[in-house]
Amino acid sequence: MIKPDAVAEGHTGAIIQQIEKAGYKIIALTKLQMSPAQAAEFYAVHQARPFFQSLCDFMTMGEIIPMILEKENAVEDFRKLIGSTNPADAAEGTIRKNFAKSIEANAIHGSDSDENAAIEGAFFFPGV
Ligand code: CMP
Repeated sequence: MIKPDAVAEGHTGAIIQQIEKAGYKIIALTKLQMSPAQAAEFYAVHQARPFFQSLCDFMTMGEIIPMILEKENAVEDFRKLIGSTNPADAAEGTIRKNFAKSIEANAIHGSDSDENAAIEGAFFFPGV
């Protein structure tokens, strides 16, 4: 999911190019603005965290681009491609190093397991 900061700043094309160059096939893609209820549901796992409300506010401030991506070892390799959650810790050349501004405005989200990839994919693309 390309986050509102990166979409608003016009980084969509560059990020998708980096994802495709890394060997990912785009299976589904859309652009939408999440409602507060959708953001709270998507990030429900973080609801007890101190940053939860701020995260939900941030994620609903503009349009996002959710995608379903396909590749061998997709989840693990994607986490390497995007880099650490905090861009200050992200490796050179990663998407977050290139485009993220802060731990909250960190340009992109990637699923952390195959199971969550299926859940998160179905959240935005039911039936795909
Ligand atoms: P993401 O991979 O989308 O998963 C949860 C998000 O919470 C994370 O990226 C960050 O953008 C956001 N977040 C905001 N503050 C923090 C924090 N202190 N620690 C971890 N994640 C945070």
